[in-house]
Amino acid sequence: MEIQLNFAPLEEIEAEALAVVVFDKEKGEPLGPRAEQSEPLRRLVQPLLESGEASGKPYEAAMIHRPEGLKARRLVLVGGGKRDRFGAVELRRAAGAAARFLRPKSISQFVFLADAPGLEPAAQAAAAVEGAVVADFEADKYKTEKKEQKRIERLELAGFDQALESRLSETIHRSRILAESQNFARDLINEPSNRMTPTILAERACLMAAETGLECEIFGRDKIEELKMGAFAAVARGSAEPPALIVLRYTPAGAPERPLLGFIGKGITFDTGGISIKPSEGMEKMKYDMAGGASMIAVLRAIALLRPPLKAMAVIAATENMPGGRAQKPGDIQVAMSGKTIEVVNTDAEGRLVLADALHYAKTLGCTHLVDAATLTGAIAVALAGVNLGAFGNDQAFLEQFLAAARDCGEKAWPMPLDDEYRELIRGHMADIQNVGGRHGGAVTAAMFLKEFSGDTPWIHLDIAGTAWVDEAKAYIAKGASGVAIRSLVTLALRLASG
Ligand code: BES
Ligand code: MN
Ligand code: ZN
Repeated sequence: MEIQLNFAPLEEIEAEALAVVVFDKEKGEPLGPRAEQSEPLRRLVQPLLESGEASGKPYEAAMIHRPEGLKARRLVLVGGGKRDRFGAVELRRAAGAAARFLRPKSISQFVFLADAPGLEPAAQAAAAVEGAVVADFEADKYKTEKKEQKRIERLELAGFDQALESRLSETIHRSRILAESQNFARDLINEPSNRMTPTILAERACLMAAETGLECEIFGRDKIEELKMGAFAAVARGSAEPPALIVLRYTPAGAPERPLLGFIGKGITFDTGGISIKPSEGMEKMKYDMAGGASMIAVLRAIALLRPPLKAMAVIAATENMPGGRAQKPGDIQVAMSGKTIEVVNTDAEGRLVLADALHYAKTLGCTHLVDAATLTGAIAVALAGVNLGAFGNDQAFLEQFLAAARDCGEKAWPMPLDDEYRELIRGHMADIQNVGGRHGGAVTAAMFLKEFSGDTPWIHLDIAGTAWVDEAKAYIAKGASGVAIRSLVTLALRLASG
């Protein structure tokens, strides 16, 4: 997608379509601060508001052809909900909804008026770009009937002062890389497990690394066992597919020794549950159990392209979780790389096992800060549904930095507790720790388990099981992998780099 700024007055903008947000008129002014200054726009919108064709209902779109008084060939009105609640999240979705409304109509170019009341210009440009690029992604590569690949080819942003041109161009460049990295991860995540084995995931990571100038190292089963990653190896035992430990390194010349940011990802390319096998209903979705791993690969991609002056690495533990003849069994005791002993009560709680060793390994490689992302528990979806990801951490300041980055990126994250009392729930009977708690607080006990392995190192854990997959297509995003958390994590890295 080509992305440009358009500084022409609204009436003078030439385009296949001009997209403008309209707000819920019951709650006040239906147009944003820029649009309401345009006499022709106000006149054009009025009858649609009266008829209810444009109601301001979130992300509903209406279109007018040959709008009088405008040079644009079409005017698209996108619902933005309540005017005073229209922020970074809503603006992204509105831009996305405009793109997804126009795309199937073969309208491949449009101008979006960034017009959110009270949002900084750079934040608005970022939202519009990210919203449109994310919206332009569709999981259709295996459809043989190619309904001529309809894509948005050009986006222009209107509503800005020309004085901001160079600053906004930088924002556009960064946002494009963030959103394209998000789509890069979505493509990996959507792949079915027969086309996205641990080996293929590792190959894709190395290919990307070669293209962007990252270092890439892959370890197989022997090396994983040699490193004494007993928890990771135990999960991998059940599968005939070889596991892969993927390490990506970004080491810019002249970067300070500290911080060294470690991005740890759960890369279960298919989770059957192992011997504690899952019910068949819905099991097909467990191909997305490598979303955390794919996201961390995408985070390193974006970092490599944006080149912040700080060191970062990704460590992804990739394997299938299968009930093979050599698979681990409930009750088995494993020794993690850290030396801690783990009683595996349920082989379906495999994510925390592979992450235990990946987190510890990242520490041995010198990471000063750890962030992991994992589709770790169904319980996080029970708690937060598909709206917020669950954010845990052992360092309040670090966690708050993440939450602020997420807010600014229009990604929803909610802080979750890690009180000492929860530790009791995963106390081992014969070993140090067991891999499941009781029926209650499943997302928290899973995070408590990981906390044992991050130790004193500042650490954030993101449980994305509820948010990594979009069950039903929305006006602004396709069904399938969402690519959640990538934008927030890259933004966090950029902020740590700039002090
Ligand atoms: N990969 C699953 C978690 C999951 C569930 C991801 C639904 C996406 C959608 C994880 O490995 C798992 O099976 N967790 C168990 C833990 C339980 C055995 C303590 C769960 O959530 O049921
Ligand atoms: Mn599982
Ligand atoms: Zn899993």
